[in-house]
Amino acid sequence: MARFEPVLLRNVGVAGVRRLETYRARGGYAAAAKALRRMTPEQVVEEVKRSNVRGRGGAGFPAGVKWSFLPADRKITYLCVNFDESEPGTFNNRYIVDHDPHQLLEGILIAGYATRATVAYIYIRVEFHETFHILQKALDEAYAAGLFGKRAFESSYALDCHIHRGAGAYVCGEETGLIESLEGKRGWPRIKPPFPAIKGLFGQPTVVNNVETLCCLPHIIDRGEAWFRSMGTPGSTGPKLYTISGPVNRPGCFEAPLGLTVRELIYGDDFGRGMIDDKKVKGVIPGGLSVGILTGDELDCKLDFDDPAEYGLLGLGTAGVIVINEDTDIRKVLLNVTRFYAHESCGQCTQCREGTAWMYKIAKRIAAGAARNEDLDILIENSHNMGMMPGMSICGLPDGAVYPIRTIVEKFRSEFEEHIRRQVPAAVEQTLRRINPAVYEMPIAGRKG
Ligand SMILES: Cc1cc2nc3c(=O)[nH]c(=O)nc-3n(C[C@H](O)[C@H](O)[C@H](O)COP(=O)(O)O)c2cc1C
Ligand code: SF4
Repeated sequence: MARFEPVLLRNVGVAGVRRLETYRARGGYAAAAKALRRMTPEQVVEEVKRSNVRGRGGAGFPAGVKWSFLPADRKITYLCVNFDESEPGTFNNRYIVDHDPHQLLEGILIAGYATRATVAYIYIRVEFHETFHILQKALDEAYAAGLFGKRAFESSYALDCHIHRGAGAYVCGEETGLIESLEGKRGWPRIKPPFPAIKGLFGQPTVVNNVETLCCLPHIIDRGEAWFRSMGTPGSTGPKLYTISGPVNRPGCFEAPLGLTVRELIYGDDFGRGMIDDKKVKGVIPGGLSVGILTGDELDCKLDFDDPAEYGLLGLGTAGVIVINEDTDIRKVLLNVTRFYAHESCGQCTQCREGTAWMYKIAKRIAAGAARNEDLDILIENSHNMGMMPGMSICGLPDGAVYPIRTIVEKFRSEFEEHIRRQVPAAVEQTLRRINPAVYEMPIAGRKG
């Protein structure tokens, strides 16, 4: 692959670039000035639409199209910046803001202008203490320079911007959970419709965009939509930040056009540089946890918005890649996955609250060496009965739960079965009673004996 000139990470490693002066000296805020002085909001929306930049937060919805759902006669518009970044394995938003906070602020100015927002709220995950202070300092500087709060760049546009720290719940990354939380309530996702574009924050038309999506905007305005579209694959345009963690030689956050393969990311010299001790890859969770798992034989999967579905995955997700090596017990992977979703379900919808909890209980049984083959069938059956896709839930959390659970069980079934074959019946009985007597006593459809 030809060497890629970084776009979103172009300022990483540049001394002092968190300061406004240095960011500006490197061409920063020129795109915002161009948009505010020389383009109408409609022209900015059109340019962003033509670039086909799709949301980097997980769902991949085209940003310009989302903005055009705002009612034309609206009086107030809010912009919510989704910096909750709680998806396991994902740290690209934090990486970008830690190194280059003004890039995000410039993106916010452009998005705010395009959508005619008067106030922007950055909803940041509470655990990002240092990042919060970096961003607040940058925002203070931008305010002092008259970029926020006043008419910026001698234009007629003024945007206020506030940073709001969340309280550490995964579900607050879901856009309506985020809005509820911003309003000071428990972060419970809302039933849709109405979608936030019509009725969002404080009942007003609202746009919610991810940090990385917004960071693409200065580059689209500066270099043009055609340049942006020249990168990536036809339905997946532009640069992308990929994070990689697990037993690789060089974990971290890297940039490449959309469509990089998982194999390139793990083994490429510019990326992960291979597996520690040359271990074999057992599996890869390629898009944050919620998209599902690839086996070691599926590393040619392209990380774009289309290819993951060919491998039975939910989508690209966040492109936060977690690598698992041959030494890892797949039962422990399943245990971790189920524990996460059972803990994070907000509890409003029965199938999500109960389903994630039951799946965790079954995974505990499997990990304790007391499983039955039908446990694997129950997990798969449950996975088809939960989530927004079968129309059962308010938000997409259970869809994100069932993809990893189903693909782990289906793709590694023979390994689970091998563990079950080796179990000693008397020990199984004892373990079952010890770890979860309630589960054991309960009649389960199809249970034998
Ligand atoms: C359970 C759940 C958690 C989510 N967490 C995040 C998150 O941490 N950050 C994010 O940008 N989007 C997250 N999303 C997606 C948002 O709902 C929304 O689609 C996104 O912020 C829109 O921004 P984008 O179009 O720029 O991607 C989550 C969705 C669900 C269902
Ligand atoms: S689907 Fe789950 S997380 Fe989403 S609102 Fe319902 S209970 Fe809460």
